[in-house]
Amino acid sequence: MCGIIGYVGSDEVVPVILDGLRRLEYRGYDSAGMAVLGADSIQILRAEGKLRNLEQLAYQRPLHGTTGVGHTRWATHGAPTQANAHPQVDASGGIAVVHNGILENYAPLRRELLEDGVELSSDTDTELIAQLLGRETGPLGERVLKVLPRLVGQYAVVAVSRREPGTVVAFRQGPPLVVGVGTAENMVASDVTAILHRTRRVIYLENGEVAVVRADGVELRDRSGALVERSPETLDWDAGRVEKGGYRHFMLKEIFEQPDAIRNTVRAYLDSSRSGVNLDGLGFSGEQLARLRRIHLVACGTSWHACLVAKFILEELTGLPTDVDYASEYRYREPLLGDDLLVIGVTQSGETADTLAAMEMAREGGALLATVCNVRGSSSWRLAGARMLTQAGPEIGVASTKAFTTQLVALIVLALALRSSRGLSDGLDRTLLTELQRLPLAVEEILHTDRALYRLGTEMLAEATDSLYLGRGILYPIALEGALKLKEISYRHAEGYPAGEMKHGPIALVTEGFPVVAVATATATREKLLGNLMEVKARGAAVLAVAEADADGVRQIAALVLPVPAVHRLLQPVVAVVPLQLLAYNVAVELGLDVDQPRNLAKSVTVE
Ligand code: M6R
Repeated sequence: MCGIIGYVGSDEVVPVILDGLRRLEYRGYDSAGMAVLGADSIQILRAEGKLRNLEQLAYQRPLHGTTGVGHTRWATHGAPTQANAHPQVDASGGIAVVHNGILENYAPLRRELLEDGVELSSDTDTELIAQLLGRETGPLGERVLKVLPRLVGQYAVVAVSRREPGTVVAFRQGPPLVVGVGTAENMVASDVTAILHRTRRVIYLENGEVAVVRADGVELRDRSGALVERSPETLDWDAGRVEKGGYRHFMLKEIFEQPDAIRNTVRAYLDSSRSGVNLDGLGFSGEQLARLRRIHLVACGTSWHACLVAKFILEELTGLPTDVDYASEYRYREPLLGDDLLVIGVTQSGETADTLAAMEMAREGGALLATVCNVRGSSSWRLAGARMLTQAGPEIGVASTKAFTTQLVALIVLALALRSSRGLSDGLDRTLLTELQRLPLAVEEILHTDRALYRLGTEMLAEATDSLYLGRGILYPIALEGALKLKEISYRHAEGYPAGEMKHGPIALVTEGFPVVAVATATATREKLLGNLMEVKARGAAVLAVAEADADGVRQIAALVLPVPAVHRLLQPVVAVVPLQLLAYNVAVELGLDVDQPRNLAKSVTVE
């Protein structure tokens, strides 16, 4: 969703804003803009399309000042035009606002302003916020406190006023905002990647809080106006991790970072002897664990696929019945909550609006709430009583890769910990722990496979408009994930299916040369899968398979086998997904598409 950056300090603000916006490009956007505070004016630049258009404008019309805000917009209300780009201003042009979110009372607010004779210059909900601020009196921070009760919905807003040079005011309800605390300069951003290169000291704004940010300090108030004291925390990410580091795309870099990311995630939760798991410090009390009878996993997108895999693992290792829900569905149904239930919100960003809402609902219903999350300090991190950090480091490519494999690993470790708390540990635990520690080497082996091997698969999928991805059991979610990877970055239609469902409908799609990608590593149901593949092959399908190099029966059916090393059956999803990530990446590159910022997508879906 939208990216936000605000700066107050002594540097020329335009380069600071453009640099911050460039670091936020990965979030996905369709227009961009900035406001710079001059001595007695606000100067605004807005441009449709890519950031380079705004950069071009800034070059043609140089603005000067040391305070300002910038924005990349992902359109909600109104088309992605220059008029609808942010910043939006009030009627006097004295207050400028950038916003990430959606106002749910957009229609009545708009009607009210129009009836009062306010001339609106955009279709956005953001302009309504600017107009409301403009109609109040007093310093900007006080105006915000007066306007807050009028806003229904989700918003992260940063505002500046002509009358207050050297001040940026930020407030939020829902989408995140973080204040970066520097030396004689301070910043505000929608996520830390925009400011990490200038400071690692941050204050996360809580819902309903208002931050008045000046170069020499940050004043926090709650929605009642009471002062809030909160010291900055220091992030353990460094700026180098949000650079491409010589790779052509972030996605490729992140695929190649998986061995380290997996290694770090496993190590973080091993005990000192490395033969047991250590959940100390995660936040579960012994009493809470003893009460557990059920688990619900809630997530969206790729993280939801990780949950589907985890259901198999959690049920087998802990004996606890485990349900998986799309967070967007869970929050609107009436799940059976209670204190015997563990609800785990699985989220890379920790900011996905639906996942947060589902987690909040679970907490209110008395469930024990946990998160598996990649961003320390994010909203899900702060919301959950118990939390596991995936050690993937910043994930910039919109297509999630290393976050997914580290989620899988974290959830396996969590399953082992719950198993141990239930007194179920036996030889299987030791085997899994040993295998988990070998997993990075297995992934490395895949990454070093001859790239030429991917050529045929890349061509087949790039040429076809549709394809099917098939798997069974614990590998069925990997078929879903492989299909999602292809769809989101190559815009080629792909469906993931449990192979046993083929005859119940999808096989009708198969014609001569139709690509079928099979996740065919050695599980108890591989023979069944091979039977399904024979059926599609008999109807002309071209089968690509992910399997062990020597997999019996697979080579006879598949036109191409993308090899993976043999690993424990519960760990196979982690290795099987890697060739599918590479395949999708290669197809998108072959088609000349924008791999890291696919159309219409945002990295972090902070509104419903
Ligand atoms: O940050 P989250 O894990 O909560 O994000 C959930 C989905 O939006 C995300 O996994 C999305 O599906 C991926 N970009 C797909 O690659």
